[in-house]
Amino acid sequence: MTSHLKIGLFGFGCVGQGLYDILNHNDYLTAEVVKICIKHPQKPRSLSKEFFTTQKQDILQNPEINLVVELIDNAEEAFEIVAEALKNGKNVVTANKKMLAEHLPELVAIQQEYGTSLLYEASACGSIPIIRTLEEYYNNELLFSVKGIFNGSSNYILTKVIQENQTYENALLKAQELGFAETDPTLDVGGFDPKYKLCILALHAYGIFAKPEEVFNYGIQSLSEQDLKFAKEKGYKIKLIAQSQKIQENQVALLVMPQFVDASHPLYHTENEFNGVIVEAAFSQRQTFIGKGAGGHPTGSAVLSDISALLYGYRYEYKKLHNATRKVSNTSKVLLEVYVRYQTQEDFELFDFEEITEKYNGNFNGENSNYVIGKISLENLLEIKPELLKRNIFIVNTGKDLVFFSKEKIEKMELTEI
Ligand code: HSE
Repeated sequence: MTSHLKIGLFGFGCVGQGLYDILNHNDYLTAEVVKICIKHPQKPRSLSKEFFTTQKQDILQNPEINLVVELIDNAEEAFEIVAEALKNGKNVVTANKKMLAEHLPELVAIQQEYGTSLLYEASACGSIPIIRTLEEYYNNELLFSVKGIFNGSSNYILTKVIQENQTYENALLKAQELGFAETDPTLDVGGFDPKYKLCILALHAYGIFAKPEEVFNYGIQSLSEQDLKFAKEKGYKIKLIAQSQKIQENQVALLVMPQFVDASHPLYHTENEFNGVIVEAAFSQRQTFIGKGAGGHPTGSAVLSDISALLYGYRYEYKKLHNATRKVSNTSKVLLEVYVRYQTQEDFELFDFEEITEKYNGNFNGENSNYVIGKISLENLLEIKPELLKRNIFIVNTGKDLVFFSKEKIEKMELTEI
């Protein structure tokens, strides 16, 4: 690998500028940005005009540039840039979680075929070095679980709403102003962004190519005062948790949804734009990683770390994916315990509860407002997801371990399928 990196940068938004800033304050690396490809040339920029181009080929076909850093918003355009750069013999660093989650199988194959390296530590949990940790450190045992707060914006909003009594709308605006939120903040508050990150981590933790559309994500948009009151009375906070949990010997369940956490939970005090990742395994047991999950400098620092790793020729080996003896897959055949706040009987009937432990019918601020706590299957949640957001319903995981379907349930399902 060359000892001098000449970088072609795509995108000069929050993270792009953060990276430029960090590179300028760094004496350790011999890396310089030689060209920046942007979409809007009329926008005022902090650098002189010669740095910028609107033509992606000015970077992709430039023989002087030996590293492409992709930090744009649009996932499909990003995929085209990244794939072409890798095929042109250039190593690439990206932070685009949606693009990665949707294209990991192709990107792994391209790297293998063309011998180039794609690194993306900044795509998951900002400044927390979780991808390389999963890839290099936890490569000997099947992890029990990898879970946590993977989205800075929604954690920021929940902190402001729960701790500081701010309105949801104000907190979201502030998260946008601070550069934490995605251009379309539904990706944050709807749990899509943490789902993409979960899919990326699932590859490095378990060797699974999880398809984002097959993973359940449910966000915080429908959080109401009644839910906050319920949580407060029980001493809980609500956090948006992405989780992967080993279910059977070779099966893992993946999901993203709000969860009640009590004061003993390792992420109870993880607030604002901080992220936290908990890794559990048989021998290392529980380890928790906490750090800033959003913002130009924290995310830029992860990009910088990838750039510096490329200087010594680092590449992901996808060790779990290529493990011949253990093939892991994801399953939705699990039960989880949830709190569901709902308004009408019709809302309640949407859910196929296996077991109910608590049911409350009443009203809140003069409106019908009920809740139920019970066990439901992840399959059922996936099935009814399109309906959920249309109704005045809020679902929270109570935080108990996921449980694989009983043998009897599986047998019964197989009989019905015949
Ligand atoms: N919108 C993302 C977040 C940015 O809030 O976590 C970092 O990936």
